[in-house]
Amino acid sequence: MARIYAPTSPEITEQEKNHMERVRRIAAEGMVLLENKGVLPLRADGRALAVFGNGVRKMVKGGTGSGDVNSRTVVNIEQGLEDAGFSIATKPWLDRFDQACADYGAGYMAEFQAILQEKGFAGVNWALENPYRDPAVPEITREDLAGTERDLALYVIARTSGEGADRKLNPGDYELSEREIENLKTLTSYYEHTVVILNVGGVIDTKFLRSQKGIDAVLLMSQPGCAGGLALADVLTGKVTPCGRLTATWAENYADYPSAESFSYLSGNLDDSEYREGIYVGYRWFDSFGLNPAYPFGFGRSYTEFALSTRRVEILGGAIRVTVSVKNTGALYAGRETVQVYVSQPQGKLDKPYQVLAGFAKTKKLAPGEEELLTVDFSIPSLASYDEERAAWVLEAGSYEIRVGTHSRDTHIVAALELDETVVTEQLQNKVRPDCELPGLHADPDRFYTYLSESAEKAAALKLEIIPSTIPTRTAHYGAEAVEMHTEKTEAVTLTDVLEEKATLEDLTAQLSVEELAALVVGAERGGLGSVSAVGAASAAVPGAAGDTSMELADSRGITNLVLADGPAGLRLSKSFVTDGQGNVIPGLGESAFGNLFDMLGVPAAQRPDGAVDHYQYCTAIPIATMLAQTWDPAAIEEAGDIVGSELEQFGVDLWLAPGMNIHRSPLCGRNFEYYSEDPLLSGLCAAADTRGVQRHPGRGTTIKHFALNNQEDNRMHCNSRCSERALREIYLKGFEIAVKESQPLALMTSYNLVNGIHAANHRELLTDILRCEWGFRGLVMTDWGTTAASEGFQYGSSDAALCVKAGNDLTMPGSQADVDAIVKAVGRELALAELQACAKRILELVLLRAKLQ
Ligand code: BGC
Repeated sequence: MARIYAPTSPEITEQEKNHMERVRRIAAEGMVLLENKGVLPLRADGRALAVFGNGVRKMVKGGTGSGDVNSRTVVNIEQGLEDAGFSIATKPWLDRFDQACADYGAGYMAEFQAILQEKGFAGVNWALENPYRDPAVPEITREDLAGTERDLALYVIARTSGEGADRKLNPGDYELSEREIENLKTLTSYYEHTVVILNVGGVIDTKFLRSQKGIDAVLLMSQPGCAGGLALADVLTGKVTPCGRLTATWAENYADYPSAESFSYLSGNLDDSEYREGIYVGYRWFDSFGLNPAYPFGFGRSYTEFALSTRRVEILGGAIRVTVSVKNTGALYAGRETVQVYVSQPQGKLDKPYQVLAGFAKTKKLAPGEEELLTVDFSIPSLASYDEERAAWVLEAGSYEIRVGTHSRDTHIVAALELDETVVTEQLQNKVRPDCELPGLHADPDRFYTYLSESAEKAAALKLEIIPSTIPTRTAHYGAEAVEMHTEKTEAVTLTDVLEEKATLEDLTAQLSVEELAALVVGAERGGLGSVSAVGAASAAVPGAAGDTSMELADSRGITNLVLADGPAGLRLSKSFVTDGQGNVIPGLGESAFGNLFDMLGVPAAQRPDGAVDHYQYCTAIPIATMLAQTWDPAAIEEAGDIVGSELEQFGVDLWLAPGMNIHRSPLCGRNFEYYSEDPLLSGLCAAADTRGVQRHPGRGTTIKHFALNNQEDNRMHCNSRCSERALREIYLKGFEIAVKESQPLALMTSYNLVNGIHAANHRELLTDILRCEWGFRGLVMTDWGTTAASEGFQYGSSDAALCVKAGNDLTMPGSQADVDAIVKAVGRELALAELQACAKRILELVLLRAKLQ
């Protein structure tokens, strides 16, 4: 019987209230003001507001799938505005939309139920591939407008997406729907001002919003978690001055994105995905190919204004320090500004984009007239590029221009670092070469974005010299083969012996038989704790958690299980569950993370025995990862991580299956909302901050995911992502590298897809050579859920459990008997016992860490 942590009282705790207040604050800081023609902030005068749109009552707090979090309540926009003292004058329209959703939802659920009855649990994939989406919003009629004050209307546009399916380029998703356009035309012809609120997890087409007269403000409220309506009201009323900044480029036209035609289903080929744009992702592409975005990377407006002035640029040892003063020059509102520092690297043998983000810093809240000195630091080697021919990171000779600004289209050259010879900063080996010819994309510096004063700034820039001999060259050493562990101990060693220091982990590992080792490196789905096993809900000690490690060696060796639960928008657990008098969880009772899925599957409802006890696991839905990143404030992200860390402790979860940190390669990736940005530095620093917050809580850890190139959702398990080694290292792996080096997450999850022809889960070069040997990762690597499950009819099949072990992928999740058998069979053939021991020992290290805290 497992220990149950969840409280038995449904009462709201002080911690829950406190977390709600904290996420309200963080969410307000992640909202991005895109347009404002003087209409915001609104006077908080308690009047009746005309509020329309699909996100008012059905505000999307975060996306769907494993990234969805079950909080006790979600404060929607209607409630948030009412709480701020407004009343809503358009309830009949909102009621009509509710009814339309209820009717449409009933039809959808009937179809889902029929599919489940036909296919059983496999039918869940239908829902992932055909996710529920609300129907079209009702038309706004004259009657809806009558009786409302004519000066202002709010219109909320909501979108949702989730794992298993990419977003569509259609009206109603990336595009505005015809009805949304009609409704907005109605509002702009009736009201003096219309404010549009975007309750979206990613980019949408904003052409209409920017061109329609009368739309006087556009606020990206994003997907803000459980206190979203309150946070929105804080920003609309000016209690918080908007200070979020975009973390991806919002294009004028979808076709402007470099992956527009080659992305996912749009390429007509779901088997292979070729990253032909190479390093030119996001603003690197728009800037280098002279395309003007609708909203550039890093952009966001405020209610006040700031003046920046660069005070100093210095070389301090191996680092650059840029000191910038920021002054709030407005008269009315206090606010925060983000200083962004970019670098233009010299063109040489290697193509370089126009500029890359090198560092950033955010001010505190500055009152009107107040000034703050910010410093932005970054290392000189962080400006290196990857040269595939030399298999090395190199700083090519030339001039490195330092640019300071408030977004990527507002950067100004303040200094130039001169390097007169090329320096190798790190000598590696190529490890992830593409499995096909991928012609590199070359940008022509003559077509780069430019602005009037650019050449004058170049000429006037302060020149600083980098002395090549001060930059050391690091050489990576790729570890020798794993060495078999042996022990002198003859008595059976248990984890308690290790805890009591009577034996070492090596002794314990060395004593385990091949069968025991194999049991340990495969998750507990195969009938461990749960009697109802389901992807994402295997844990029976913490219902709704995504899985456990093995309990099979609990009696014989005292090796207990680790509990793993999803994120990234909070901790994903079931809201409540029921135990019998002996503390055993009764599957199927309580409010599951899966709604009424088991009912629909026809699993007979469990009886509630006498003496049954209710338990509650109300977790806080924090803002989606993109919104956290939009704060550009590592301290705020660390705080979000701390909220999750406290809940991991409270409910007895060891590893959080988050943060997700894949790069926003295309705006249509169905899971972008779970990821931070198109920029690797920003992604890496956000993941490191999230990790620091979680890992403040001893024994609790993050699992950065999905490593690597999981940039599309359609056919995510069997798609081969093909990418140059340079783009992999500079763009797609870089964030992971930063997170590992800066924060040592306890775990990492591999992706489903193949990386240049090899399943990521089986990719030894990626998981051992790059992750562990080059970057020094010391944690546990696990697979994504079900990647080894048998599959048919795909060009690329599934990954292999024995090859996971061989690659250094320690834990196959959620695990099956077939995985255990495959591993046992492989030992002594393609798999060395030492390799299996190495994986088992890394799991044991975490089990031991947790045991030490109990
Ligand atoms: C997702 C992971 C998640 C896992 C467990 C998978 O479908 O891709 O991100 O952590 O399920 O729920």
